[in-house]
Amino acid sequence: MATRPHHLLSATVVLGVVRLMCGYSFHNCIEDLYSNRQSFHCIHRKETDMFAYTRDLPLSAVNVTISNTYLRHIPKDSFAHLPNLQNLKMDHNFLSRIDRFAFQNLHQLKFLNLSFNNISELNCFVFEDLHNLTFLSLTKNKLKQLPEGIFSTLLNLDTLIMRQNVMTNFTGIAKSVSHLTNLRILDLCFNHLTSLSHSNESLPKSLTVLYLCRNDLYTLGCKHSFLRYINLLDLSYNSKLPAMAFAGVDLRHVNYLRLRSTSVKVAEFLNISNVNAGHIDFSGMGIKNNMLIELCRLLKRKLKVIKNLRLSNNGIEMLTNKTLRHCPKITGTLELSRNNLQHSICLNFLSGQNQVNRLDAEHNHLTSIPSCKQKNAVYLKNLEELSYRYNRILTVSRDAFYHTPNIKTLKLNINNIAFLHRKALKGLKQLVTLRLDNNLLTDLFNDTFEDNFNLQVLNLRKNRISVIFNGTFRSLGNLTTLDFGGNKITHFQPSGLDGLKSLSKLYLDGNNLKQIDSSLYRCFQDTLTTLDLQSNQIHFHKEKISSPFLNLTKLRDLKLDGQRPHGLIVLPRTFFRGLHSLQSLYLTNNNIGYLAPDVFDDLTSLRFLTLDNCCVGVTQLKPGVFKNLQNLTKLIVENMGIQNFSKKVFGNLTQLHTLQLNRNVMQSIPADALESLPKLRYLDIRDIPLSCTCENTLLQNYTLHNPNVQVVYLYNMTCQSDSKFKFYNFDTNVCYLDLGQYLFFSTAVVIFLFTVTPLLYVKLYWKMKYSYYVFRSWFSEQWSRLREKEEKCKYDAFISYNSFDEQWVMEQLMPNLEGNGSNFKLCLHHRDFELGRDIVDNIVTAVYSSRKTICVVSRKFLQSEWCSLEIQLASYRLFDEHRDVLLLVFLEPLSERQLSSYHRMRKIMLKKTYLQWPGSDCTDPIQAQDLFWNQLRRAIRTGSTLVTEENGCVAPEKEKSEHVEKHTTDKYYLQP
Ligand SMILES: *[C@@H]1O[C@H](CO)[C@@H](O)[C@H](O)[C@H]1NC(C)=O
Ligand SMILES: *[C@@H]1O[C@H](CO)[C@@H](O)[C@H](O)[C@H]1NC(C)=O
Ligand SMILES: *[C@@H]1O[C@H](CO)[C@@H](O)[C@H](O)[C@H]1NC(C)=O
Repeated sequence: MATRPHHLLSATVVLGVVRLMCGYSFHNCIEDLYSNRQSFHCIHRKETDMFAYTRDLPLSAVNVTISNTYLRHIPKDSFAHLPNLQNLKMDHNFLSRIDRFAFQNLHQLKFLNLSFNNISELNCFVFEDLHNLTFLSLTKNKLKQLPEGIFSTLLNLDTLIMRQNVMTNFTGIAKSVSHLTNLRILDLCFNHLTSLSHSNESLPKSLTVLYLCRNDLYTLGCKHSFLRYINLLDLSYNSKLPAMAFAGVDLRHVNYLRLRSTSVKVAEFLNISNVNAGHIDFSGMGIKNNMLIELCRLLKRKLKVIKNLRLSNNGIEMLTNKTLRHCPKITGTLELSRNNLQHSICLNFLSGQNQVNRLDAEHNHLTSIPSCKQKNAVYLKNLEELSYRYNRILTVSRDAFYHTPNIKTLKLNINNIAFLHRKALKGLKQLVTLRLDNNLLTDLFNDTFEDNFNLQVLNLRKNRISVIFNGTFRSLGNLTTLDFGGNKITHFQPSGLDGLKSLSKLYLDGNNLKQIDSSLYRCFQDTLTTLDLQSNQIHFHKEKISSPFLNLTKLRDLKLDGQRPHGLIVLPRTFFRGLHSLQSLYLTNNNIGYLAPDVFDDLTSLRFLTLDNCCVGVTQLKPGVFKNLQNLTKLIVENMGIQNFSKKVFGNLTQLHTLQLNRNVMQSIPADALESLPKLRYLDIRDIPLSCTCENTLLQNYTLHNPNVQVVYLYNMTCQSDSKFKFYNFDTNVCYLDLGQYLFFSTAVVIFLFTVTPLLYVKLYWKMKYSYYVFRSWFSEQWSRLREKEEKCKYDAFISYNSFDEQWVMEQLMPNLEGNGSNFKLCLHHRDFELGRDIVDNIVTAVYSSRKTICVVSRKFLQSEWCSLEIQLASYRLFDEHRDVLLLVFLEPLSERQLSSYHRMRKIMLKKTYLQWPGSDCTDPIQAQDLFWNQLRRAIRTGSTLVTEENGCVAPEKEKSEHVEKHTTDKYYLQP
């Protein structure tokens, strides 16, 4: 098909604008599926103009996210046409300027996120219209202060987050929020506040959560009742804040207070403050050893019972069975994370604290969990959750949890456990969740989980288990989730998975399984819903196997993507037989050679299918391959090397709403294939080398006029032939010629020819003549090919000159190039032309059998017709064949004016350097002439090294490689 002519461009532009109105695509945004033109994401775009994002969003827009763009400025009225907006996220841009009327009209806006930008100043009226705003985040900007009255109209504001700015003056902040009677949460962490001093304002009664962490507070400096209504107060990491600062400050309602990394001394603080001591988080307050005992005594004086005692980050190294005896009864959580504990000694530090419900000892230095089947071990019947994550535990001995039989959640993950005694978990009959992931386990025994018959979730991810022995899980009849991802499993013994009769989710990804043994799944074939086999070593060589999934009638999710090292290779046509309940299937990165047309036939419930990069090379989607997938809603056939497909491929996908066809290699897409998808809502055809030809007229029409199908970033898609042109508005009028137009065009062509031919004759006389001679000589060449071959490049240079300049040629040029040690072979017409042959033939032969043509240019030369032909021939070789054959030698200085009537000569002069013969009138003619000959010899030699023996003159290497490069960039879509 011919490429389209561009001469109707202006008409196309007008048409394009009109068409824009009906197309369903957005320049820089993507509408969320099923959001009914309400939710839009505009992310990772380079556009710096605000209107480029908002201009084409519809009135109905409710949620808009514009993130990770290069935006710096929100100009006035940016959202004036979007009065229904409720959620606006503009985080992670480069915003620094926001105009006064930027958010005008957004009366419905509830949520505004401007975090992670560069805002250092705000206009005091900028939020004026946002009466309904409830959430505002200005996190991570450069705000120093707030202009007075900035929040004056935000009477519905509930949450205000101004973390990570550079604010120093609390007075201004207190003033700005004092009237916000609905404000509940105020976050001012990571600023430079030094005190909470304020003039006459008070905080609104509604404000109960106040974050002031990581400032430079050295005092509170506020009125007695200023913090009266606060429930949650975070003052952590104000390193200069002393206990004295709290003198007289009413903290009666505080139920969670963080004081970590301040200068507050606990004892002093408990004396001064009226805060309920049971509501203080004692983490990071330097409480260890004797201090801890003292704290307990102090607490006990005030309280009989304490719910949670939080002691993380205190550098505690040792806890004896006396330490916590003096504390009030702990009934909830004891938090000991991030200390330096090296032993837990069967938790005997909890003697006298047997009501603890949850113990958290993460991030300590524990190296082992010893056996606790001792007579004097404390019996902790209330302990239900125990976490030892992030320690250095290497061994877990037998009966390690004998004294804590009621644990429901046990976290031993992220340790170095290599030795888990086969009786280590004995007695844990209530255990529901067990985390053993990220350890060094190699073996599991048939009695390891013997007592854990209530276990529901077992996580063994990232260990070094290679074989699953018979009977390992025989007691785990209640287990629903088993995670074996990232181990080294090569096989299961025949009854390795027996007993798992409730198993629903089985993760086996990242192991070394080579095949799928269906007999293993027998005992949970009626309960399994998820099977993850991603990144194993499964591959097939033959088409015919029996389906390993035949009886997995409940299976909903199956992952088979990325088999190592080379993928599945063959996808047996019977592979998925029996999977009638399957809803999602992952097959990406598998080097599959061929998709049989019946391979998906049993997957009648399938909703999601990804074949992204599943195959090798060019993939043929066979007609009917998806014929039974009537429930499929999302299909990803990205990057599959699809070259073409027919309507029949997508035939029965009546529920399909998302189709990702991007990154394939077809030049056209049959619009009728898309039209046969009645529920299609979202179409991604980016990065396909679509040609802007009549073949795609229907596709263009489809993408522009289908009000239901969003075509992702349609207006950015370019034509394959020339990225300056856009696909959506390429000119299709030429594809719809009717008879009238046809007659009109043919008449026009005839008139055109009659008008232009005489002109062309004058203008292109030489070109025609040249073509005629070239043709003639080519014709005669065919007759005498053998002779021609030896004639080729017979000469180093053909000298073209006017007989008027013959004297110079004979006396100067010949001796200097043929003699004088140069030994060039020159072709001179008076000497080397064949007698009796047509002069034109002689010239053609001479030019084509010499590596260079030297034109000796003088006024007389320019006037000579024959010489002109010689220049034409040589310059055609220069321009058209890209062979650098022409050398110009100017015998006398010629002015611009004298050259002006010789266009072609001027064109050559602009393109090439030329040599000027230094006449006798220059100061040192001998030396200048020596230089001239040297330059000329060099010029004749250039390129001569590249001449190969068998076919004479070859184009210089550089041009060749350029040519090749161009070729490959044209074809870059064809990569495997
Ligand atoms: C808009 O965003 C809100 C909050 O994220 C969400 O609850 C709501 O469903 C979204 N609306 C639409 C139409 O997507
Ligand atoms: C806030 O939104 C409600 C509906 O969501 C609307 O009725 C009301 O007018 C808005 N309030 C203001 C002050 O615009
Ligand atoms: C803090 O801001 C208030 C007004 O908001 C102003 O009166 C006061 O001078 C400021 N203090 C400092 C130290 O800048």
